[in-house]
Amino acid sequence: MILTVNGTAQTTAAAPGQCLRTLLRDLGCFGVKKGCDAGDCGACTVLLDGTAVHSCLVPAYRAEGHDITTIEGLQAHPLQRQFIDAQGFQCGFCTAGMIVTASALTQAQRTDLPRAMKGNLCRCTGYRAIADAIAGIPHVGQHSRNAAAPDAAEIVSGTARFTLDVTTPGLLHMRLLRSPHPHARIRRIDRTAALAIPGVVAIFTHEDAPTHLYSTARHEDARTDPDDTRLLDDTVRFIGQRVAAIVADTVATADAACQALHIDYETLPAVFDPAEAIRPGAPILHHKPGSRIPDPTRNIVGRIQARHGDPETAFAQAPHAEEITVEVQRLQHAALETHACIATVENDRLTVRSSTQVPFLVRRALGTLLDLPTDRIRVLAERVGGGFGGKQEMLVEDICAFAAWHLRRPVQLELTRTEQFATTTTRHPMRVTAKAAARADGTLIALSLTVLANAGAYGNHSAAVLENACGPALAQYRCPNKQVDATAAYTNTVPAGAFRGYGLSQTLFAMEQAIDALARALGIDPFEMRRLNAVRPGDPLLGAHPAPDDVQFGSYGLDQCLNLVEHALAEHPTPPPGPDWQTGQGMAMTMIETSPPGGHYGESQITLAQDGRFDLRVGTAEFGNGTSTVHRQVAAELLGTTPDRIRLHRSDTDLVAHDTGAYGSTGVVVAVRATERAARALHEKIATQGPLPGLTAIRKADAAPRSLAFNVHAVRLAVNPGTGEIRILRSIHAADAGRVLNPMQCRGQIEGGVAQALGATLHEVLHIDHGTVTNPAFRNYHIPAWPDVPATEIHFADTHDAHGPLGAKSMSESPFNPVAAALANALTDATGLRFTHPPFTADRVWAQLALPITAQPHLNLVDDTDQPALYAAPCSR
Ligand code: FES
Repeated sequence: MILTVNGTAQTTAAAPGQCLRTLLRDLGCFGVKKGCDAGDCGACTVLLDGTAVHSCLVPAYRAEGHDITTIEGLQAHPLQRQFIDAQGFQCGFCTAGMIVTASALTQAQRTDLPRAMKGNLCRCTGYRAIADAIAGIPHVGQHSRNAAAPDAAEIVSGTARFTLDVTTPGLLHMRLLRSPHPHARIRRIDRTAALAIPGVVAIFTHEDAPTHLYSTARHEDARTDPDDTRLLDDTVRFIGQRVAAIVADTVATADAACQALHIDYETLPAVFDPAEAIRPGAPILHHKPGSRIPDPTRNIVGRIQARHGDPETAFAQAPHAEEITVEVQRLQHAALETHACIATVENDRLTVRSSTQVPFLVRRALGTLLDLPTDRIRVLAERVGGGFGGKQEMLVEDICAFAAWHLRRPVQLELTRTEQFATTTTRHPMRVTAKAAARADGTLIALSLTVLANAGAYGNHSAAVLENACGPALAQYRCPNKQVDATAAYTNTVPAGAFRGYGLSQTLFAMEQAIDALARALGIDPFEMRRLNAVRPGDPLLGAHPAPDDVQFGSYGLDQCLNLVEHALAEHPTPPPGPDWQTGQGMAMTMIETSPPGGHYGESQITLAQDGRFDLRVGTAEFGNGTSTVHRQVAAELLGTTPDRIRLHRSDTDLVAHDTGAYGSTGVVVAVRATERAARALHEKIATQGPLPGLTAIRKADAAPRSLAFNVHAVRLAVNPGTGEIRILRSIHAADAGRVLNPMQCRGQIEGGVAQALGATLHEVLHIDHGTVTNPAFRNYHIPAWPDVPATEIHFADTHDAHGPLGAKSMSESPFNPVAAALANALTDATGLRFTHPPFTADRVWAQLALPITAQPHLNLVDDTDQPALYAAPCSR
């Protein structure tokens, strides 16, 4: 067939069942992205005879005789410049689709962008930066603090190369056969029919896999997580676990072979609720000794029991105490780029091109798995389409590299959106009870947290998530008596893992409501309650354990954040949408340590090049976290030049000695600190030796000492008791980010984090029914689309951190943490009820408001409960 693509006639053939998206990518139009292949996300938008369409929904053969324009064909469109000037993207994976859709809008449609753009999803930005871009509001400047992102021109032209945006000669494709059972032993595998399919190259099962156990979680210290995972196991522990990996010449052939594989399973008893999993007699998931599982006989993979002072006596004698029990749901990261990688072998050396936040840690794990020295492995992440913690895992690289290494041929594995939802890691669902006691004047005298987390079938991150969930939630208050009793338990459900906030959003949802309830009971303003009780410099940080000795107040901006949000909230009182609506307002706060405990390292290398520019080599990956921009900006500032004269080379294990990776908001405080040191060193060399081409400085950095950062969020909302609908009237956020290196980029991070948190609070939930994920698609998981996201007002405290590079602190995941609690406190203010079971969808809120509540809610962590009457408890006020 003949079609015109970007003005050039193309003669090609459409494969049976092929969609236009994959046809265009086969023609080299890599700006046409895959986010879902279901018409939900818009990342694949192209113009078909001038009309914007989702190319994944267009059968390829129907394009015959038509004129197709992709992002590559929109050269020099004014919108492309506007997206650069407005910093209208973070990871940039959605950007091509956004620009193509916006390019086809009429003037009338541009007056209602939420409506006109609702078919294009962005997981990173919260849409405000995109709105600014389409409206032509510029923010960046070469000499301003709002330096543009290094890849901006490539992102807006569709030439930025994400993981699979390359042509690899001889590429084979892998598909994974997954378990239909939540718990089963594999008795026999019959590969005969599958191997007989033409084009099938290899089938790997547990019979071929090493017996070596590891964790898919990636940490600097690999002992952080239990070794409970095998590449391909003879026992499956959740629906969707890999059973076999099929390598074939096409994806379709590999899929057909999956269907033809015969597996004989012996099903085993399964357990889905962590409370049941830790009871005597429950099915045991992991038996293997030496796996660093705290109590495998009770399915316990994480456990914290700690106390400071005498909490029992303090609670018993307290004049006022409040207790809140909440159940916080399972969420998916829903990064727009699914997990994907390409593994190749050349000259007896393995190269893995991956969508990862942690290339160096993946290399280390592959070395152990394949018994290879790390210098024979290269892992690179050219540009990653979103992460949010989900790519601090090794979920595809291990099996893909294993196959490529054994076949000595290039192999690609790309997860579908359904696989991404149903089989990759999630946020830990948690049941949390927070208890707070105070004197009549509001001074806290006792705090406690009781946590039960659902780890899923494997223990990746669970123990560390539990630590971070409990530590800062307690430590952010000065209080002499504290206790924590926290457990993470295995169940036969999809594994939980690292997720933005790393457990803290779940515990704060309970703790910040308990503090709010206490303030209400005592008649104290919630801002005053925090001023009275929040930690201050000099206070011991009493969290889940004794105060860590490597955490110091390098700066302190919580007081400013409280003032900024309180004053903003007092301005512009917003009327309710109608006379029947009930309005309320609430706030919450969070504290984070600027780097996780346990070590985090980075290295940067800067060289003065022949052309007078600088080559900056760093290990950190760019997935919308913005560190690429800040690396260039800091180097330019210290070398007395402009960011455009710094050529950035990043996230490739061949570039520098080591980089732990971009997680725990460490991009700025570790990796950029290494760049700061290298730039200072090179500046000194140039000052003493002159500007000799080839002059180089290499410097390392770690996170020590770690500092503390704060965020405060407030919400004013209206709720319609007749429908349960919630409308956000004001959303206000203040961040203590130290010296804000790039205010517009930091604003975007916060807007994106708040938008993700609003989705998590109002409509997102991954439903699981007896181990099966029942909503594995954007259309029924419901990440926030443009019309769902209210504007958030962003304020920054004016602080300068003593430990961070040029005074900066972390600010990536923490804006997510206080939002749900602030919104819940506002709902309580509006309705008089405590809402304990997010998401607060209209049906749940309506049912709660319509029905009398006479008992505490029955809480259930099985994931599949959907009984709206039980989602709230009476407010104590
Ligand atoms: Fe939109 Fe990342 S910038 S999905």
